[in-house]
Amino acid sequence: MESIDGDKSELYHLLYYASLAPSSHNSQPWRAEVYGEDSILIFADKSRKLPVVDPTSRELYISVGAFIENLSLAASYFGYETEIKVHNLSDINDAPVASIALTKSNEKREENILNDIKLRTTLRIPFDTISIKEADWMTLVDVDPSNIYYFSAESKKGNYIKQKELQSYTQQAKNKNAQDELASWIRFSNKDVKEKQDGLTTSGMGIKGIGGFMVRNFFNPEYSKKESFVNQGIDKTKLQVENCGGWIVITQPSENIESWINTGRLYQAMHLKCRKMNIGFHPMNQIIEEIGFENEANTLFGIGERIAFIARIGYIDKYPEPVSVRRPVESFTTFK
Ligand SMILES: Cc1cc2nc3c(=O)[nH]c(=O)nc-3n(C[C@H](O)[C@H](O)[C@H](O)COP(=O)(O)O)c2cc1C
Repeated sequence: MESIDGDKSELYHLLYYASLAPSSHNSQPWRAEVYGEDSILIFADKSRKLPVVDPTSRELYISVGAFIENLSLAASYFGYETEIKVHNLSDINDAPVASIALTKSNEKREENILNDIKLRTTLRIPFDTISIKEADWMTLVDVDPSNIYYFSAESKKGNYIKQKELQSYTQQAKNKNAQDELASWIRFSNKDVKEKQDGLTTSGMGIKGIGGFMVRNFFNPEYSKKESFVNQGIDKTKLQVENCGGWIVITQPSENIESWINTGRLYQAMHLKCRKMNIGFHPMNQIIEEIGFENEANTLFGIGERIAFIARIGYIDKYPEPVSVRRPVESFTTFK
């Protein structure tokens, strides 16, 4: 990830920090319009939607929600108060998802939230299996106790998620349409990474060393559909679900844009906290993406609300540096 020149405007900085948000397949499905020095409109870029694994656009809006959370935190660092209005409009029109009004308050936050945003990264390595300390998982649930649940790995529900996640991942990994969609977001070669600045790279996927070298130089995205690659992914997922301290589940009372934007904001807020507590954070949403799993999970959990997001969490020894690429601010922003 590149840093930015000192001579850029504060709003440019806000959008840069916003863009360090996570997004499904690193699709970065956001667009912004900046008006003067105090107003930003945020749009969902539907050309970046994942129609196979995300037909309802839930994940697209969760990604935009994470973007908005980063923007709001960065704004508070620069001494702005933000008024964020989410427009709960239908998925089909191209109206803005949110309007953000900024007022300079000159009260800078002390803590270095910008550094936290820069250091956050999705981790796909095995985590420690020891339970998350109560004080730590409470810190996460406290972000929004009415919508966030924690289940330890050894609990009944934790075990349920572990098993179903592997089954649903396997179903998705073998689905031809999901394979094609994934391949379209894979950036193996350095040339593709440089040109597109989005999607999933070898380092982002944790393909390292000589394997990473081979894949980067000699394989194209079609290789991700080969049985051997698919099976490696399933083996890796088995290792991931068996190696964590527990699971975070975010639920929402309704299925609409506003709820999903809120889910993205909660997810990002928790992920930033995890980074500080040395807890790895790995979204694993296949249970709610795959037919035959979502309804059963919603019923079995008996939470009374729909599950909008699931992540594996666990302590790690040392947080690695972020490796995922981002598009430059200019490519998704118009300065009016
Ligand atoms: C809604 C959503 C769903 C995601 N689902 C998965 C997932 O199932 N598996 C996974 O490994 N990463 C998942 N991710 C993480 C993204 O792949 C990751 O954010 C993106 O590649 C950028 O990398 P970064 O988070 O390290 O910046 C998800 C992210 C979002 C926002």
